[in-house]
Amino acid sequence: MESPDYDTFEVDPHPGMTVLSALFQIQEKYDDSLAFRYSCRGAVCGTCAMLINKVPRLACRSQVRDLLKDKVPETVADEDISMAGEDIYWNPEEEVLVEPLPHLPVIRDLVVDMELFFQYYRFVEPTFRPAGPDPEKERLMDPGAVKELGVYTNCILCGACHAACPVVGENPEYLGPAALAKLYRFHIDPREAEGDSRLEKGDIPNGWWACESYGDCYQVCPRNVPPIIAIRQAINQLNKRK
Ligand code: SF4
Ligand code: FES
Repeated sequence: MESPDYDTFEVDPHPGMTVLSALFQIQEKYDDSLAFRYSCRGAVCGTCAMLINKVPRLACRSQVRDLLKDKVPETVADEDISMAGEDIYWNPEEEVLVEPLPHLPVIRDLVVDMELFFQYYRFVEPTFRPAGPDPEKERLMDPGAVKELGVYTNCILCGACHAACPVVGENPEYLGPAALAKLYRFHIDPREAEGDSRLEKGDIPNGWWACESYGDCYQVCPRNVPPIIAIRQAINQLNKRK
């Protein structure tokens, strides 16, 4: 892999300024060719995920001043997820290090090619397949099931978990935490006709079984989705049958 270049820019971080706003300031003041993705600017669309101080985060939700005070969490501040693949020096008290999401090819600057991520997402066939004919009014669910499903439906497909997962880094054929969490979400949906076929879909070497329980996926998720819990529960269910 070609070694990336790093540039340093000085920004004036007003209170509440996010990394995304800082990138706009850099674009306006210093480099109008700087490429990065964003859409909603409100932590909803998931497009602005990038590696910020070596942790995958949403640029629109990460405030510059907080990052300067922040200690880089040791569990995910591993050089393995740095784009440089080598030590890069930055002063966390005065600087914010911004890099593209790891584990996906860089198209330009902070923009990565998400094709592989979405290929795995499509592989799990993330569409609702209702059981039986359509009801006259609605499909009722008990509150417990709604609560459990809700945890997984919060995913905004930002790719932060994919970027943080050491297994994805080692094995690009691993479906990854986001796709598996989605698969589990449909497995537990009581309205689904598919039953256990969702569980079986992930019962492949690069599915549930490839997870090594690092848990970085849960730590970095901006929506508190716990892919590791989904994967462990799927594995427990499969083990009970064997
Ligand atoms: S599970 Fe969380 S980190 Fe992973 S894609 Fe969904 S929202 Fe992003
Ligand atoms: S711009 Fe939509 S999540 Fe950040």
